[in-house]
Amino acid sequence: MKNVLKIAIQKSGRLNKDSIDLLKECGIRFDNGKDQLMVKSHTFPVELYFLRNSDIPNYVKDGVADVAILGENTVIEHNTNLDLVQKLGFSKCRLSLAVPKEVDYQGIMFFEGKKIATSYVHTLKEHLKANNVNAEIHAISGSVEIAPNIGLADGICDLVSSGSTLFKNGLKEGEIILKSEAALFANPNLIAEKQVILDQIVFRIQSILAAKHTKYVLMNAPNDKIDEIVKVLPGMKSPTILPLAVEGWSSVHTVIKEKDFWNAIDNLKTLGAEGILIVPIEKMLV
Ligand code: PRP
Repeated sequence: MKNVLKIAIQKSGRLNKDSIDLLKECGIRFDNGKDQLMVKSHTFPVELYFLRNSDIPNYVKDGVADVAILGENTVIEHNTNLDLVQKLGFSKCRLSLAVPKEVDYQGIMFFEGKKIATSYVHTLKEHLKANNVNAEIHAISGSVEIAPNIGLADGICDLVSSGSTLFKNGLKEGEIILKSEAALFANPNLIAEKQVILDQIVFRIQSILAAKHTKYVLMNAPNDKIDEIVKVLPGMKSPTILPLAVEGWSSVHTVIKEKDFWNAIDNLKTLGAEGILIVPIEKMLV
């Protein structure tokens, strides 16, 4: 039987939609009905497994699935030594220690001899050990932010994204234990045929991620300013310059990093560029 790559993704939860969207953008098409937990792609040698987030690290470790899209925080908590193949840039968050907002938090020693509620028992234990803090860890699997308000703990260790859940529950972030985002993880012992399929997917993902951070820029520029304009537009290799029907003017095309474009555009306007268009790029082969 021909080898397929078995990819596990969250059945529900924060990573589910972005994971599905990313795979579809990679050309991995599949039709999954509600509650269908395994589906074959009809466009790529891939089988998708929709699983509970907390079960996925061990499924990949045991080879039930070959790769998975998971938060780095989940893999660290499960201590499973999977290979981090590619960070994906979504579901960015941090695992933080938080305390009631009236606490004058001066550092992690605040927790010496105190109780901390968390679903991240392993990660927290390691962090406390590394900082020589003795605290009691109270394991709970959800709604951790309620613990200080009902007298269950002096503080919590939980994921923070916007900070709104902490705020709504009268808590504030004390310190960050780790930063996390969604990533593609793999079993470290993939057979060669599966590694080839994974490499193809990673290439597609990198092309999508590269495109997200870049824009295609077109503008009309006076010919006598083109040398200066090119200096503020580094582009991929060098900008494309095409003559316009109007004497003395050219059309300049290039690709620019999103983080650079506002600065570059101010300079371009000063140099006399007109009709500047910024166009999104769908995929950029890297
Ligand atoms: C996570 C986390 C916090 C919340 C933080 O829960 O456990 O409760 O998000 O996000 P915020 O800083 O943007 O408010 P999630 O909603 O993912 O569900 P969970 O309780 O199943 O972890």
